[in-house]
Amino acid sequence: MKIWVITNQKGGAGKTVLATNLAVEGSKAGLKTLLIDLDPQQSATKWWEAREAAAPLLIKCLYNQLIDNLNSAKQQGFELVVIDTAGREGLKHTEAIESATFAIIPCQPSLDDCRSALPTVDIIKKVKTPFAFVITRCPSSGNDLHEAKNSLSTIGLVCHTPTIERKCYKRAYANNLSVCEYDVHDKGAGEIKGIFNWIDKKETRLENTQLTNAVG
Ligand SMILES: Nc1ncnc2c1ncn2[C@@H]1O[C@H](COP(=O)(O)OP(=O)(O)OP(=O)(O)O)[C@@H](O)[C@H]1O
Ligand SMILES: [Mg+2]
Repeated sequence: MKIWVITNQKGGAGKTVLATNLAVEGSKAGLKTLLIDLDPQQSATKWWEAREAAAPLLIKCLYNQLIDNLNSAKQQGFELVVIDTAGREGLKHTEAIESATFAIIPCQPSLDDCRSALPTVDIIKKVKTPFAFVITRCPSSGNDLHEAKNSLSTIGLVCHTPTIERKCYKRAYANNLSVCEYDVHDKGAGEIKGIFNWIDKKETRLENTQLTNAVG
């Protein structure tokens, strides 16, 4: 079972938007997908409760219920779990990061945002969970994307596809949809697909490398 934790102590980095969209993308890709809302703010839960679509499933979860919930998700045959976490509660979800098979750090392309992600990176590195940055809310022109990629790639992997600052993300969220459900032809839908495929392939490649190293 793949467990993707979306984490960044910085508030407003785009965690919930990414978590909800990746979970829908997982379902669309045919994976039995569970979205776990670990944020006491419950933004993902409010989005999910107003949806009509059956998938993905969502459970809201207290920190001390996480491991039990992950175990029962595995028993129930879930193939992908996406965990949305709280920004301001920072360290409280270390267990989620440790349990995850991959950690995703959404980060806006500014020096302040890149610096603010560092405490989260420290936690992830300590527990040795593979991770990557996804640059979010990127201006559609200018150097911000290039500069953020350069600076973040000195710390870890950076997903090739960013999310651009687009109306469709806010509109889809306000309508309790993913961007793909909102408008499959919008460029945002292509971005989410690109991010999902990149993470999925990267994780599979890392798993294969670990397996080869273990055998060799
Ligand atoms: N690519 C994007 N384009 C436009 N708006 C975006 C994009 N990504 C996120 N947003 C908007 O940015 C705001 C913050 O996003 P989000 O709620 O996902 O952040 P968060 O990291 O979950 O915040 P918190 O730390 O409070 O949980 C929201 O209003 C969301 O709609
Ligand atoms: Mg959030």
